[in-house]
Amino acid sequence: MADASAASSTGIEIRHLYKLFGPTPDKFMQAVRDGMSKQELRDVHGHVLGLRDISIDMPPGGIQVVMGLSGSGKSTLIRHINRLIDPTAGEVVVQVDGRAVDVVQMKPAELLRFRREQTAMVFQKFALFPHYTVLENAEYGLQVQNLPGRKRREQALHWIERVGLKGYEDHYPNQLSGGMQQRVGLARALTNDAPILLMDEAFSALDPLIRSDMQGILLDLQQEIGKTIVFITHDLDEALRLGDRIAILRDGEVVQQGTGQQIVLQPADDYIASFVRDVNRGRVIRCRTLMQAGPPVEGPSVDASLVIEEAARLLSAEGLEMANVVNSKGKVLGTVTMADIIAAMVPPRTEASPVA
Ligand SMILES: Nc1ncnc2c1ncn2[C@@H]1O[C@H](COP(=O)(O)OP(=O)(O)O)[C@@H](O)[C@H]1O
Ligand SMILES: [Mg+2]
Repeated sequence: MADASAASSTGIEIRHLYKLFGPTPDKFMQAVRDGMSKQELRDVHGHVLGLRDISIDMPPGGIQVVMGLSGSGKSTLIRHINRLIDPTAGEVVVQVDGRAVDVVQMKPAELLRFRREQTAMVFQKFALFPHYTVLENAEYGLQVQNLPGRKRREQALHWIERVGLKGYEDHYPNQLSGGMQQRVGLARALTNDAPILLMDEAFSALDPLIRSDMQGILLDLQQEIGKTIVFITHDLDEALRLGDRIAILRDGEVVQQGTGQQIVLQPADDYIASFVRDVNRGRVIRCRTLMQAGPPVEGPSVDASLVIEEAARLLSAEGLEMANVVNSKGKVLGTVTMADIIAAMVPPRTEASPVA
């Protein structure tokens, strides 16, 4: 049964991954490496540039978000991780039984085992079996792994309960709302107990409130399961809420990667700057970033990883100006002031923004 000690030790390292769609992709690899544009490749040579030179290091037990507009290559990228798509060039290195293995080099039987035992997917369109009950859907992954029936049921029931569907075990998907169906999708993926969870726009079809609920459920569960999660989204708020790290794709290339805070505070180019301009910075910037060295003060203590909006709420509730910033063990690292928090919540004025 899954427990906190089951935290994933399986990281994923994507190295110089390229994908060209078309009849003779190898023929154009060198030209693409040398910088041929997506447009020339398509218009002159009839091939689609899916991915160009993607390198992303996804540490074990973290949530890696891949964000980008429709058509930027997100699905193409995530499908390389369990090799539903073969790359034109590059490596996808994962840990299997403590060894680093390139998924691209796996033989068919090894690949099948890797897919079944090391990965689970959650899809945007839920992809539930309509003629299976909630319980049967959740058990499905273990069934193909040939686990005994009682054990399967035990695990499936555990995760059905954890995603908040206790009492619905015998319902069929068409008796459930979209949000509930996606909880089944999540329960099925978790029942698999694979160290890698691949989620391709898993929450994008849900209404905003339900979507926010699902994000909360995923974050809560992740505290306990510590899986290596690859989460695809085209939504910046979702990316910032879920991602330990975020990679932003545009036209098949990574234009920036880092923490949400790095992306908001140091956008790599105008494109990303325009993306992050309207973001609520108070929910992204962490107390650690604004902290000043100094002796402890009279006042509340806030965790260094707390977002500053929460710190501001605490301070204003107590009518105070300063808080101690502490690490997870409660040690005081420095202080943060209300004035600095308020200043940080307002984006820097750029050329484009109106002057007040
Ligand atoms: N099988 C395919 N054949 C040709 N082009 C494809 C194929 N799959 C995806 N593409 C193209 O690759 C690009 C990225 O697509 P995709 O990964 O689905 O984007 P996203 O998931 O970000 O919306 C798009 O230009 C798309 O048209
Ligand atoms: Mg997609």
